Amino acid sequence: MLILGVETSCDETAAAVVKDGGLVLSNIVSSQTELHAPYGGVVPEVAARDHVKNIIPIVDQALQKAKVNLKKIDAIAVTKGPGLVTSLLVGVDTAKSLAYTTKKNIVGINHLEAHVYASQLQEDGQEKPVGLKFPLIYLIASGGHTELVLMEDHLKHTTIGATRDDAAGEAFDKIAKLLKLDYPGGPEIAERANSGNSRSYAFPRPMLEQGYEFSFSGLKTDVLRLVKKNKYKLPPQAINNICASFQAAVAEVLTTKTIKAAQEHQARMIVIGGGVSANRLLRWTLQKKAQNELEEVKLLIPDVKYCTDNAAMVAALGFYYAREGKFNAWDKLKVEPNLNFSQSKKC
Ligand code: KG4
Ligand code: ZN
Repeated sequence: MLILGVETSCDETAAAVVKDGGLVLSNIVSSQTELHAPYGGVVPEVAARDHVKNIIPIVDQALQKAKVNLKKIDAIAVTKGPGLVTSLLVGVDTAKSLAYTTKKNIVGINHLEAHVYASQLQEDGQEKPVGLKFPLIYLIASGGHTELVLMEDHLKHTTIGATRDDAAGEAFDKIAKLLKLDYPGGPEIAERANSGNSRSYAFPRPMLEQGYEFSFSGLKTDVLRLVKKNKYKLPPQAINNICASFQAAVAEVLTTKTIKAAQEHQARMIVIGGGVSANRLLRWTLQKKAQNELEEVKLLIPDVKYCTDNAAMVAALGFYYAREGKFNAWDKLKVEPNLNFSQSKKC
């Protein structure tokens, strides 16, 4: 089954063609990072205008690269939420127009649920990834969300914990801004951390022992206090040390809670997704801890290039909806900017 995926929830315009929920025939992503960098964050109006400009050429490129035309596509999967309303509208309206004119089935996809399926993607000639085994614990750590989710099957999941305030990626971005580093903050902080000492600052591990909830806004306040104490003039090595210490705190909290959730729910697998899952320290810490503390629990970590937003993961999840015949009437499909994880089954 060939699914065309479309993703415009934030600042990436993306389209992809994926076969049978895993084989990536094309994956085109146009990132707006440079457009938003001067503002230190995504400007919704700027994002939407750029999506409008790019969406048709990007869909075209995805079809061409996959060497298919729309007639060969079995269904269209498009991110309906969560995300920026004006950005989502561009993708959803484009997908609806394509579905209507070509009489194809369409399904609206929850972006958070789609990140799970980044772990299932494979390119031609690559080994097929291990399939999802349930029950599994899914950690989504992105710019807008940090949640631990128990998945009992495809399309069947319950959120067991979420952040009370900032998402992990948001904390990376805000702290990078405080330290006058570039946007997006995650990769910048990770890079600086490589030259820093993670023991230099004893940042707290927020809510480490308190269930599956997270809180990252306090870390931002701690860094702000440090920056103020130094009269906004921190030497480069101190910045590197702050980055390393902060990154270590976030990685420890995310890892500890994910492992605990897997133990308590007798999970057969742990899957991570979202932009923060590209973080090397987090990937390494999880691998180490899973090896030491979990027997027979497989840890699935997506290829770095599929951790951040893309349409291949949307198309991959679209396959599981299509397989069950779960589609949306094209005129009823609406954007849902505030969609959360547990609402994704609503079709
Ligand atoms: O999933 P994503 O691409 O977009 C959302 O759906 O939010 O995640 C973007 C977030 C940003 O906050 C970015 O700073 C963070 O992921 N990020 C990272 C890394 N790469 C991206 N955070 C930590 N380390 C990284 N290497
Ligand atoms: Zn995302």
